[in-house]
Amino acid sequence: MNVDYVSAVSSGTAALHLALEALEIGQGDAVLVPDFTFVATANVVEIQKARTVLVDVDTTTYNMCPDKLEETIVNYNFEEQLKAIIVVHEFGAPADMSRIMAIAKKYNLYVIEDAACALGAYHNNQHVGTFGDIGCFSFHPRKSITTGEGGALITNNKKLASKIELLRNHGLKRDENGLIDVVMPGYNYRMTDFQAILGIHQLKTFQENLVKRSLLVDNYFNELSNIENIKLPRNIEGHAWQSFMIILNDKLNRSLLIEKLYDNKIEAGQGAQAISKLSYFNERYKNNYLKNSNSEILAKKGLVLPLNNTMNTADIKYICLSLGVVIKVGDL
Ligand SMILES: Cc1ncc(COP(=O)(O)O)c(C=O)c1O
Repeated sequence: MNVDYVSAVSSGTAALHLALEALEIGQGDAVLVPDFTFVATANVVEIQKARTVLVDVDTTTYNMCPDKLEETIVNYNFEEQLKAIIVVHEFGAPADMSRIMAIAKKYNLYVIEDAACALGAYHNNQHVGTFGDIGCFSFHPRKSITTGEGGALITNNKKLASKIELLRNHGLKRDENGLIDVVMPGYNYRMTDFQAILGIHQLKTFQENLVKRSLLVDNYFNELSNIENIKLPRNIEGHAWQSFMIILNDKLNRSLLIEKLYDNKIEAGQGAQAISKLSYFNERYKNNYLKNSNSEILAKKGLVLPLNNTMNTADIKYICLSLGVVIKVGDL
């Protein structure tokens, strides 16, 4: 990735948590987070006792919309101070980092990139995770490299890198004689050697698998182009395609559709959540949250279709054919 420092940790959530800790974001601070993501992105802000400020997303990339980001910053009027943006590269789609970094600079905000799903994704030929202050990755089983559970942080900032190293391992430092000292309280967020061995092994086939996924996605685009009542994602340059999510027309019943696909031995599911609609966040922020957001539509009508390295063109054909039939005849 052309990056100076990396720390391997026990999960993507641990990586995000350490990123906030390393940047000293806590009570009295506020962090901008896209409303459509896995909840870990927002949970870590809450764990730090900071305010989560949600930003709506684009309906074709599913990523934080730069215009809405700036609008949210300009209209922000709470007591806590805006300190950082967590940008998510949702499902491996590179977010518009050129615009987001310009906005961060203009308003003097840190940028943490949640690239949990985006190993192998590029924006303008630069690997995602390397634009902001810290990039976070996940190696959960749904990701394109998995260590069972696992994650990593990357940064080009030496000070941040050594702080992250301390925080992930009890704040522990050894002197030249190997004697242990503790210079700050820290966590045990280390990745185990067992996990690392699993991950290293998959690095060998990673590039090949990225190409494979992108070819499978090309097949999806071709095969789905004639099916009515669905919308396809934008095929952005540099996409790593961790997941492939389509959007169902309002009149289609997603739960029923998932059931019918399952009858055909096809496992499909909901993509991510609209954070603002989750009970905890909805109650904590009451009326201060997004209404009629794009994220709400994506959370209600998004359908993730199967995608992994062991699939082939025939699998995609079968899935799309079944989906077409189910939608057409389905009483959905
Ligand atoms: C966008 C996003 N952020 C964070 C995480 C958390 O990663 P982990 O499951 O490794 O803790 C995930 C995992 O699914 C994710 O999709």
